Amino acid sequence: MQSSVHNQDNLHVAIIMDGNGRWATTKGLPRTSGHFAGIAALRGVVKAAPGMGVATLSVYAFSSDNWRRPASEVAALMDLFRFYLVRDLTPLVEASVKLVAIGRRDRLSDELAKLIAHAEAVTARGTRLTLRLAIDYSSRDAILGAVAACRPPPTREELAQQLAGNSVPADVDLLIRTGGEKRLSDFLLWEAAYAELYFTDRLWPDFRAHDLALALGDFRARDRRFGGLSTTAGQPTASADHDRASRAPASAP
Ligand code: FPP
Repeated sequence: MQSSVHNQDNLHVAIIMDGNGRWATTKGLPRTSGHFAGIAALRGVVKAAPGMGVATLSVYAFSSDNWRRPASEVAALMDLFRFYLVRDLTPLVEASVKLVAIGRRDRLSDELAKLIAHAEAVTARGTRLTLRLAIDYSSRDAILGAVAACRPPPTREELAQQLAGNSVPADVDLLIRTGGEKRLSDFLLWEAAYAELYFTDRLWPDFRAHDLALALGDFRARDRRFGGLSTTAGQPTASADHDRASRAPASAP
């Protein structure tokens, strides 16, 4: 599942959509306006991604730590998720996007949990893009839950499958974080083991298809070694081949 060539399609891109609050406050608007504007940015990226070789897009919409935010902001975000799942369902089907939610559902309202299940069912046949919405998501909790669900203890492949849930397991190729911070914030820690990281100061509501193209251009110029040696001289190493074959290198700095 790991990527081994630069100009490949079928990429898994993950995005930490940060900066909504700052975008709003610098405009003198309530923070929730930034989240609302973030939906428009998400729409633009979802529309552009398949044409740029992206097969899977995982976006961090609400971390399990975001419950610590003021109740009014949490409620506004939950409202927005419901709004998106209703308003964007038909466009997602028409664009052949398969929507999958990752994260806990037992702490979501019944209404939101039902909308998620409905959206997953209605979009299940989408083939152009798998859009994974991380809601009430913690990668550490997801890994613990996946291990606990497997008997006997899982292989790497079994764990990856368990973590993928309703989507095909795919290591993250490129992880983008907007908003200027440079951290992973408990997002896809297992899946991003060999992800290329791309940080931009652009605030999420200002992120456009052009910014995605820039990030992908940067990604495609990188030399991905997966713990082996450089293949840019046209001499793939045995260890690099092994790493690609096993999808999960045993030891590599
Ligand atoms: C981080 O920005 C963003 C979030 C916690 C929410 C992300 C949600 C959206 C983009 C809304 C649309 C999503 C869906 C799936 C409908 P922040 O609030 O931490 O920004 P700050 O760092 O500037 O305060």
